[in-house]
Amino acid sequence: MPFVCEQCGHRSVKWFGRCPGCGQWDSLTELRDDAAAGAPDVTWLGEELRSISDIDVGDVERTPCGLSEVDRLLGGGLVPGGVVLFGGEPGIGKSTLLLQLAESMACSVGKVLYISGEESEGQVKLRASRIGATSDRLFVLSEQALHRMMAAVEQVEPVVLIVDSIQTTADERVAGEAGSVKQLREVSSALIQLTKAKGMTTFLVGHITKEGAFAGPKTVEHLVDVAIYLEGSRTEDVRMLRSVKNRFGATNEVAVFQMTEAGLVEIEDPSRFFLGESDRPAQPGSIYVPVLEGTRPILVELQALVSPTGGYGVPQRRCTGLDINRVLLMLAVMEKHLDVHIGSADVYLSLAGGLDVRERGTDLGVIAAVLSSFRNRALAGRTAAVGEVGLSGEVRPVRRLKERLSEARELGIERMIVPRASRLPVIKGLEVVGVERVSEAITALSFE
Ligand code: TYD
Ligand code: MG
Repeated sequence: MPFVCEQCGHRSVKWFGRCPGCGQWDSLTELRDDAAAGAPDVTWLGEELRSISDIDVGDVERTPCGLSEVDRLLGGGLVPGGVVLFGGEPGIGKSTLLLQLAESMACSVGKVLYISGEESEGQVKLRASRIGATSDRLFVLSEQALHRMMAAVEQVEPVVLIVDSIQTTADERVAGEAGSVKQLREVSSALIQLTKAKGMTTFLVGHITKEGAFAGPKTVEHLVDVAIYLEGSRTEDVRMLRSVKNRFGATNEVAVFQMTEAGLVEIEDPSRFFLGESDRPAQPGSIYVPVLEGTRPILVELQALVSPTGGYGVPQRRCTGLDINRVLLMLAVMEKHLDVHIGSADVYLSLAGGLDVRERGTDLGVIAAVLSSFRNRALAGRTAAVGEVGLSGEVRPVRRLKERLSEARELGIERMIVPRASRLPVIKGLEVVGVERVSEAITALSFE
């Protein structure tokens, strides 16, 4: 197909004035016909082929950046020659966190070059003074042109380069505006090459919009070594940094931060942070759930409110921090398998503390919380529950049960309902009840 949209990558056999994929005007360009340039030479092999057993990798060298949660997320620190894509919605705190990282690296390791295409040097300085960044090894440049950025790298020779953002960086030799798919790819690959050649570590900031803009950083994710995303809502001060790709370590790790007056502060013990004052007497509709964020269990409080729908209104089902579709399924499971009829009641669910969880291990907790509020009776003692619930009412196993149990015990949980297993972990001071079906789980719950 000979035409491609520079904005969204949509391909088409015909030329359109307006891209059928993303609606952008005048963005379709013709693809070059590489076949016409002649077939590539396939007869020469530069080196002898090696078997995998002959390849020596050595240990990946890592430099801790000083922000311990970020280091943990990256698998121990920054890797020389590594390129990290740092994505997130505008205003979420990307520049703030990277400036903190820049200051930390400048103080402990070496020169850092922070290039902003969005803010003037003065604006960066203002933010820097809020977070206390004063190192004289931290260099700041306001620039959008790729070749001048590269010249600055040659001059400074930094150990860490931060480009804020790839959407504002443009290579003049390439057609298309800054931020177009073509520019993003060109700019990213040029910076990746430079990073490998210099043995520095580079962070590329990429904006993602709520609608998941086509030309977003996703289009360069496959080029970089590590992709991490900063998430959270602008109204809550909790931020989660998530790794979705890591060529040097585990993915799906999560680091939790709180946005404060002086930048982002790491939360090393998220359970305690999300639980808040945990000595409160148990309330109807509340249960604890040890959810998994990456490989780490976090104990959160799940709250349900079930109240009669007034008049002839349509029953409302709302939730924050949970997947609404999953919640609706659980309500159907309750109707069918527990004979609990909430059809004429409003149901609200929320995870305390502003955490957003997409994990099926919360299923059992959702059912228990809804039931507790429906009956208007609090659960006895400090009870937690975890387990995925299937459509036929069976309770399915969850990953890392032992870690979840330990975390729950650590935070004072006395009783926990879990999926039955042939050998359940034994934890001192914690009563663990294994169940196979939701009906059993409900019988096992004791109410005050
Ligand atoms: P910013 O890092 O500019 O976001 P991004 O680069 O992802 O667009 O952060 C923007 C918000 O963070 C801004 O609304 C102000 C707030 N903020 C704080 O609350 N405390 C601080 O110390 C700083 C620097 C910013
Ligand atoms: Mg920014």
